[in-house]
Amino acid sequence: MYWSLLFPIILYHTLSVNCATEGNRGNEEEADGATSTWTGGTRHMQDFLHLTRQCLSDLQRWMRPETLEEEQSSEPDWGLPRDDSWYPMHLLSDWYSRVTENKESLNSRINNNLTGLQWYLDNRVHGQHLAVTLIPPYLERFLNDEKHRKSLTLSFHGWTGTGKNFVARIIAENLYKNGQRKMCVQVFIPQLHFPHPSNLEAYKVLLGRQIKEVLSHCSQPMFLFDEADKIPSGLISSLLPFLAPGQIIQSIFIFLSSIGSNAINEVTLNFWQAGRRREEITVDDLDRPLRAAIRESQDDMSLLRQLMEEDLIDSLVPFLPLERAHVKLCAQDSFVARGLPYTENALEMVTQELQFLPQKEKLFSAQGCKLVSQRINLIKNE
Ligand SMILES: *[C@@H]1O[C@H](CO)[C@@H](O)[C@H](O)[C@H]1NC(C)=O
Repeated sequence: MYWSLLFPIILYHTLSVNCATEGNRGNEEEADGATSTWTGGTRHMQDFLHLTRQCLSDLQRWMRPETLEEEQSSEPDWGLPRDDSWYPMHLLSDWYSRVTENKESLNSRINNNLTGLQWYLDNRVHGQHLAVTLIPPYLERFLNDEKHRKSLTLSFHGWTGTGKNFVARIIAENLYKNGQRKMCVQVFIPQLHFPHPSNLEAYKVLLGRQIKEVLSHCSQPMFLFDEADKIPSGLISSLLPFLAPGQIIQSIFIFLSSIGSNAINEVTLNFWQAGRRREEITVDDLDRPLRAAIRESQDDMSLLRQLMEEDLIDSLVPFLPLERAHVKLCAQDSFVARGLPYTENALEMVTQELQFLPQKEKLFSAQGCKLVSQRINLIKNE
C-alpha cells in the first residue's frame, strides 16, 4: 500500500526535477545546498535517471524474498510487490518521510535462526567455502554474547555475482521475520542514497539520522552497504559513533564491495595452477592481499580503509570467483526454485554463453551466477 502510494510521488519528483533542469544547465550553484540534496545538481540529473533504473533493479533484489532461491536476477521487474512481501520501502522514502510502522514486531523476539542460516549457506551458496564457514561463528558470537558490547562489522569482498548480496540476504532472512525485516534491515545503495559528492554534508546528517531511526525501532538492527567502495569516505564520521564499542544497541554492519577481488582471483588462480583444490585456500592466504588491496583502493582514505585502520572490521570475508561447475549449481537451484525440470544439457546450455576468464584458462565466470536466471528465461522460451 505504501509502495503504491509512494511510487508515483517519487516518479513525479524525479521526472519533474528532470524537466525543470532542462533549461537550467549551468545554474548548478543555485541548485546546490541542502534543499536540493535529493535531486542533486542539474549536472548529475542524467546520470541519476540512468542510475535510478539500476538502483531500482538492485532494490528489487531486496524486495522480493520469494526469489531467495535464485541468485540475483538483474532483470528489472516493475511489478508492484505484494502487500505482505518484504519491501524495505523506506529505502526510497526514508529521506522523504518516514512512515510509522506497527510497533508489534518490535516487541516480539527476533528470529535469529542460526540453523536456517547455516542450512542456506551450506545448500544454496556455491563455491564459497570461506564465506560459509567464516560468517556463522561471527554472527553466533555476536548474538549470544551478552557481554559483547560492540557492533559486528563484516566486509564482503569479491567479484560481481559471487554471492555477496545473496549471502547478505540469507543472513537478513534468517535473522529476522518478515515484519522485523522492514524495521530492522536498512540497505544503503550509494548511487541512490549518496549520489553526489558535493552533498556530503547533507548525507552525513541524513545517514546519522537514518541509523538512529532504525535503532529506535529495532533492538538488533542490520545495516547493509552495497558497493561500499562508492560510499563517500567523509561519511565515516556518521558511522563511527555506531561502530565504536559501548553502544547501548549493537548493530550488524555489512559492507559489500569488489575491492580486492583481483587479489582474491589471483590467489584462486594460483592454487588452480599449482594443482591444488580451491577448498585448500585459507583465510590466511587471502588476508594480506585483501588488506593490501583495501589500503591501496582508489581513494586513499576510502571508508573501508579508515574502518580497517581503526580496527573496526571484525572480519574480511572473501568471495572466490566461481567456476563453471558452481554456475551450473546456481542454474540447478534456479530450475528447482521455478519448479522446472532440468537436464545436464540444460545446465550446460546456461553456462555456454557466459564469459569465462582469464582469456587463456577460461576458468572463472566473469558474471558469477548473476546472469543465470536470465539465461534460463531465454532457454525456456526457445
Ligand atoms: C529455521 O530455519 C529452518 C530452515 O529454513 C526451518 O526448518 C526452521 O523451522 C526454522 N526455525 C525457526 C524457529 O524459524
